[in-house]
Amino acid sequence: MPVELNGSRVLLTGATGGLGQAIARALHARGANLVLTGRKVEVLDGLVAELGDRVEAKPLDLSDDGSLRGFCAETGSVDVLVANAGIPGTGKLTEYEPEQVDRVIDVNLRAPVQMTHALLPGMLERGRGHLVYVSSMSGKVATARSSLYNGTKFGLRGFAYAVREDLRGTGVGVTTVFPGFISGAGMWADSGLDLPRGIRTKSPEQVADAVIEGIEKDKAEIDVAPLFVRLGGWLAGPAPNLVAAINKRGGGEDIADSLADSQRDKR
Ligand SMILES: NC(=O)c1ccc[n+]([C@@H]2O[C@H](COP(=O)([O-])OP(=O)(O)OC[C@H]3O[C@@H](n4cnc5c(N)ncnc54)[C@H](OP(=O)(O)O)[C@@H]3O)[C@@H](O)[C@H]2O)c1
Repeated sequence: MPVELNGSRVLLTGATGGLGQAIARALHARGANLVLTGRKVEVLDGLVAELGDRVEAKPLDLSDDGSLRGFCAETGSVDVLVANAGIPGTGKLTEYEPEQVDRVIDVNLRAPVQMTHALLPGMLERGRGHLVYVSSMSGKVATARSSLYNGTKFGLRGFAYAVREDLRGTGVGVTTVFPGFISGAGMWADSGLDLPRGIRTKSPEQVADAVIEGIEKDKAEIDVAPLFVRLGGWLAGPAPNLVAAINKRGGGEDIADSLADSQRDKR
C-alpha cells in the first residue's frame, strides 16, 4: 500500500537547490515531517523559517563518505527518502580532475545507493516506506559532453529499477523521476541558456508534483518533460545513434558546450 505522506518522516537531499526547494514545499503542504539536507546552511535556514513547523535542517556534504555514514546512522527512522541532490557533470571527461570525477559519482550515484543501504532495513522492518530517485532524461538519452552526468543518471535509473523489483511485496515502494529541461530554478535555469525553438520546459513545481504522485501512487517512473523530449527517451533504447544524430542536427553539441562552460563552477 502506498505511503501516506501526512505524518510521515521524509528525508530530502538537495533541498537547497532549485528543484529541491519546490519539492520541500510540496511535501510540507502534504503534511510530511521533513529532514532537509544540503550544504548551504543559509538556504536551509530560510526554508525552516518559511515552512515553520515539521522541518529539521541538517547540513551534509554528500561527497564526504564519513559524514554521510554518520548522518545516516544518527538520523533516526525515515519513512520516505527523496534522493534529489545532483551536480551537472557536463563537459568532456578529459577536462576533469580525478577528484572532480569522484565528486560527480559520489553525489549523483554513491550517496543515493549508500543512503538506501542505510535506511532500507528500517523501512523493511516497519513494512512501510518509499524511495524516490531524481534521475534525469539524461538517464535515458546519452548526449555529447555529458558522459559523467549520463553515466551517473543511467546508473541511478538501473539501481532504482532493480531495487524496485527486489522490494515487491515488502511495503516499500520505489519511484524514479526523470526531469527534462526545467525553467524558473535549478541547474538548467542557472545556466541562463536558451533552448532551440520548439523545445519546451517544465517547472520545478511539476517535478515536485511528480515526486508526490510517485509516492502516493507508488509509480515506477515519471517523466517530467514535453512529448518531444519524452520521445527521445523512448527511442534512445532501441536507436541510440538515431537519437544522437537528431540531437546533433538540432544544435545539441553547441548547447552542450555552452552548458558545460556555464556549469564549470559546479564541478
Ligand atoms: N534543473 C534541471 O533542469 C534538471 C533536469 C534534470 C534533472 N535534474 C536533477 O534534479 C536534481 C536537482 O537539481 P537542481 O536543478 O535543483 O540543481 P541545483 O539547483 O544545482 O541544486 C543541486 C542540489 O544538490 C545539492 N548538492 C550538490 N552537491 C552536493 C554535495 N556535495 N553535498 C550535498 N548536497 C549537494 C545542492 O546543495 P548545496 O549546494 O547546498 O550543497 C543543491 O541542493 C539533480 O539530481 C539534477 O541532476 C535537474
